Amino acid sequence: MKRSLPGICLAAWVALGAAPAPEMTGTWKADLVRRGDVHLPLYLVLRQSGDRLEGRVFAPAGGELPLRKAHFEDGDAVFDTQFGMNYRLHAEGPLLRVTVRYEWRPTEVAMAVRVAETETAPPARIPLPEVRNLPENGLARTPPMGWNSWNRFGEAVDDATVREIADALVNSGMAAAGYTYVCIDDTWEGDRDADGRLHPNGKFPDLKALGDYLHRRGLKFGLYSSPGVQTCAGYAGSHGREEQDARTFADWGVDYLKYDWCSAGCTYRLDERRAVCQRMGEALARCGRPVVFSLSESTPGSEVWIWGPLAGANLWRTTSDIHDNWTEMSAIGFNQDQFARSAGPGHWNDPDMLEVGNGGMTDTEYRTHFSLWCLLAAPLIAGNDLRQMSTATLSTLTNRELIAVDQDPLGQQGTRQLQRGSLEVWCKPLQDGSRAVGIFNRSSETIPIALSWEELGFSRLPAAVRDLWAGRNLAVEPTGFRGRVPAHGVVVLRGA
Ligand code: GLA
Repeated sequence: MKRSLPGICLAAWVALGAAPAPEMTGTWKADLVRRGDVHLPLYLVLRQSGDRLEGRVFAPAGGELPLRKAHFEDGDAVFDTQFGMNYRLHAEGPLLRVTVRYEWRPTEVAMAVRVAETETAPPARIPLPEVRNLPENGLARTPPMGWNSWNRFGEAVDDATVREIADALVNSGMAAAGYTYVCIDDTWEGDRDADGRLHPNGKFPDLKALGDYLHRRGLKFGLYSSPGVQTCAGYAGSHGREEQDARTFADWGVDYLKYDWCSAGCTYRLDERRAVCQRMGEALARCGRPVVFSLSESTPGSEVWIWGPLAGANLWRTTSDIHDNWTEMSAIGFNQDQFARSAGPGHWNDPDMLEVGNGGMTDTEYRTHFSLWCLLAAPLIAGNDLRQMSTATLSTLTNRELIAVDQDPLGQQGTRQLQRGSLEVWCKPLQDGSRAVGIFNRSSETIPIALSWEELGFSRLPAAVRDLWAGRNLAVEPTGFRGRVPAHGVVVLRGA
């Protein structure tokens, strides 16, 4: 089952630790608890000299980052790390209380204990292949559609839940609407046997049988791994076992692999990512089954959208993790313009999975989320509990006219056509010569809209225009479109 990695990345820092040793100098370990009760070890390697504090924060499942702007406030050490995470350390007897704040996420608190510095040796590197352009695998000609366990279930996913979700996918009509891939995210992994073959943990007694269950229902089977020694939730990754794991996945009937960078960041440099991911791309190409290859790797500077398709990937994340709130969803969705040129049949930008129906946004906001993802030609991977969906959730996820925009065979990602304060217009050209146009209101007030057809991206007066959420054709006024868009809402038009 889950293991804690005996040391990565820290040896170099420990060796430097010549500072006198007041209370915080040393190596500390805390246990953070994330989505669905996933426990993540977090190490703090600190060197304190008076009111000066240096060091690193290190998560075996996520890599390491130096302390920035470290200082003391009321006896507590306070610092940031590169991506804006804020830490406060408060000494409580022999322990440190660690408080982590990161943007809109709930504050995390954990107690840290001192650990031996010997817990910190980096994993061996594996030889990397010479970088080459892998041929396309011919899959994902339109953005993949399906369901993934992570957003709603985290670690609390098991065989029975996946079977029930698969049944709900079929019975609700979602499968018929195009949602095909049923993907088990992180936390399924167990131990390797004497031959190195990876087995699932006790939550998944028989993955081959589960794959068969999905296939019998006309669905496809998705699984998760990492090029690191550990996955992001601290389970076994495929590091050095890519060939063997790809064959094992094929034996189980896997049709889709999400491959999450995670602890590989401890071993490989930014410029080695392509070669590391290519190892799995090559292994999948040889495994004997067509497998959609999805990279989950969005570290600033890695530019996965440029090299991802050449390493065999069909999609790649362009953001850090989405969470179920308006602020984060809209920050991610409206930031995707810059990647548009990388999308096309067989290779897609992935702004992360859908949160529609998870409860943190209003139905209006979920329609905006879904509309934006469709205009972006994003993978539509539902992340909610399909066994108990409201009518509004189901009708959002199964709006056929919006899905047709996402799945349009031209495969062109929509881009921002106009921005005026909190009003944004995004356009997506479609194969039949028509275009889909989203008129978004990012403000918290309803706004009246009066936009010319030119402002909506049409080069001439359209002959016909349809409102895709209202499901009706509009009378085309020569002056343009007039209407009202509710707070955080959207109107999506299709016209030619
Ligand atoms: C990362 C990914 C998530 C999910 C978790 C699982 O955070 O970005 O989508 O796969 O790992 O640990």
